[in-house]
Amino acid sequence: MTQVNDISFIRTLVAEEMKAVDALILEQLEQSNAPLIPQLSRHILKAGGKRLRPILTLLAAKLCNYNSGSRHIHMAASVEFIHTATLLHDDVVDESALRRGEPTANAVWSNSASVLVGDFLLAKAFQMMVGDGSLAALKLLSDTSATLSEGEVLQLTSARDLATNREIYFRIIHAKTASLFATAAEIGGIVAGATKNECNALKEYGTALGLAFQIVDDALDYSAQTAQLGKQAGDDFREGKITLPIILAYEKASDEEQKFWQHALEDTANANDENLQTALNLIAKHNTIEASLKEAENQAQKAIKALTPFPESELKTALVTLAKFTVQREF
Ligand code: IPE
Ligand code: IPE
Ligand code: MG
Ligand code: MG
Repeated sequence: MTQVNDISFIRTLVAEEMKAVDALILEQLEQSNAPLIPQLSRHILKAGGKRLRPILTLLAAKLCNYNSGSRHIHMAASVEFIHTATLLHDDVVDESALRRGEPTANAVWSNSASVLVGDFLLAKAFQMMVGDGSLAALKLLSDTSATLSEGEVLQLTSARDLATNREIYFRIIHAKTASLFATAAEIGGIVAGATKNECNALKEYGTALGLAFQIVDDALDYSAQTAQLGKQAGDDFREGKITLPIILAYEKASDEEQKFWQHALEDTANANDENLQTALNLIAKHNTIEASLKEAENQAQKAIKALTPFPESELKTALVTLAKFTVQREF
């Protein structure tokens, strides 16, 4: 796969629309009567974030020749609202202190504030979709929102359980991450009035892209530095999340290594730095970061293949590049 470290050309392709998305997001927040809502939301939204999901919606709509209005802007903003709400809730659940290089909202304000403002953003996303008037789009985003929460719950109940295998892991990341990537892409096709076949291709692309994205995120949690991630590296280990680098290391573990994993992961009290270092050594010994990234690359290839029904164009090239970037990203 060719090396892609930079997606600035993709951002340029949708720069004008993205500006409109950001303006719409801020405008929606200002409509609230509770001052904490714009304060806390601005904190997380202005910290940036890669905005990959709204970019996906905009690219998909343009790929399907949408050029007659601003529905794609509203859909992209809804998708980012759902994503942001999820992050607010996720940082409470994961007790995370850092997000997008800034202290998390739960650290600055409180868990209650994050949960409630997250609820508000989720509700806002649905208000915007109702405003759009498409029942198909509303169904897709509400189904996805339910699936996403299910994924987070499934992950919660699988934490610290070494019976979590590849199959369960894929079920979790499919629900918590790939479903929103899939919908972000498909909904672009829907607003553009694309054919069923094209919408399905976009959904398939988004699903594989989302799986690749989460696998890389889980690898980076063990292989990257906190400053580069903008979130605390090693958090997954401390939280007892059974992600792919661990599943693969546990599959290859000797009896003694299996005992280590059980000791280190099954009890929160053992999630200390010394055990994290041993975990990193075992991950290195069995090359499971490389194996995870290989799996992510397979998914990215699948995503690229799903775009076959679309003729060659600058927008298709952008989606192909996005898939490559997802695997090669370092943050
Ligand atoms: C974070 O998503 C949650 C995961 C699915 C791993 P992003 O990495 O897209 O978050 P931002 O929006 O760029 O901060
Ligand atoms: C983020 O999941 C939330 C969802 C994908 C729903 P993670 O907990 O794996 O991601 P980070 O590492 O906090 O961004
Ligand atoms: Mg988290
Ligand atoms: Mg993570």
